Formats: sequence, structure tokens, C-alpha cells
Amino acid sequence: MKILLISCFMTAATTIHAATLTSDTANKLMTKSGCMTCHSQDTTKIGPSYKDVSHRYNNLTPETLAYLKGEKPFDYLMKKVRTGTKIGVNKNWVKSKEGKTYGMMTPNPASRISDADLKDLITYILTLK
Ligand code: HEC
Repeated sequence: MKILLISCFMTAATTIHAATLTSDTANKLMTKSGCMTCHSQDTTKIGPSYKDVSHRYNNLTPETLAYLKGEKPFDYLMKKVRTGTKIGVNKNWVKSKEGKTYGMMTPNPASRISDADLKDLITYILTLK
């Protein structure tokens, strides 16, 4: 039993490629990359809190599925952060649960956050509860 558990753990550990960020390292990366101007992990700012983002993509409603058009949430979000919001094309967040209207996301090019860092950050965001 012990051996079985150890081998399961090793398989899981070797299949995860993205670095696992802690809340603290995620905050530092978000600050460095300018995401903090509009986002926080817990509270609504100009954009949705990362907890709300995680909740939406871990509990797919017909509305969100229609919006994803068959793409996986992770792949979709990688692109969306790069392109930003285009009114009439990919505006997704309307009103927060506090009744606040969300703004628009400006594009975030690789000069602001590298693909590797963005991958780690989105992986982290999608684990928030
Ligand atoms: C100028 C403000 C602003 C900045 C800077 C910004 N965001 Fe956003 N973000 C928003 C807004 C507003 C939304 C909601 C967009 C919408 O409804 O289309 C959003 C949405 C998102 C979403 C969810 C997208 C969706 O369609 O569900 C993710 C993930 C995200 N942002 C990550 C990031 C990351 C990572 C950064 C930093 C590299 C960042 N944002 C920088 C304002 C911003």
C-alpha cells in the first residue's frame, strides 16, 4: 500500500510542468506584470477577482460554455490576457456580485509577462477556491 501511494505521488509530480506559485509569489508576479492595477486575488477591482475567475471556469454554465466556443478554459484565458477585451467580441464580465460594472482589460504583451510566467499565473488562478 505504501509503495502504491508513493508511486502515485511520483506520477502526479512528474506530470505537472507548470511551477506551483504560492499566494505570495503570485502577488509579486501580478505586481511586476501590472495585473494588480485591475485585479486582486480576493476582491473585485476594475476586473474580476481571481477567485471569481476560478469559480467561473471550474463551474461551467451553458453561458460560459457558449463563450468558450469549445476551447479549454486554460487555453482561452492565455489568449484573452494577451488580446485584452474587444467590445462585441470577447467582453465577458458584466456586473460583479456587488453590482459593480467591470471595465475593459488592456492587452498584456509578452514584454509585460512572459508566456512561462503567464502559464504559471493562470494555472495558479484556476486552483483558487
Ligand atoms: C486595465 C486593467 C487590467 C489589467 C492591467 C489586467 N486586467 Fe485582466 N481583466 C480586466 C477586466 C476589466 C477583465 C474583464 C474582461 C472582460 O469582461 O472581457 C479582466 C479579465 C481577466 C481574466 C478573465 C478573462 C475572461 O474572459 O474570463 C483573467 C484571467 C485576467 N483578466 C488576467 C489578467 C492578468 C494575468 C493580467 C496581468 C498580466 C491582467 N489580467 C491585467 C482588467 C485588467
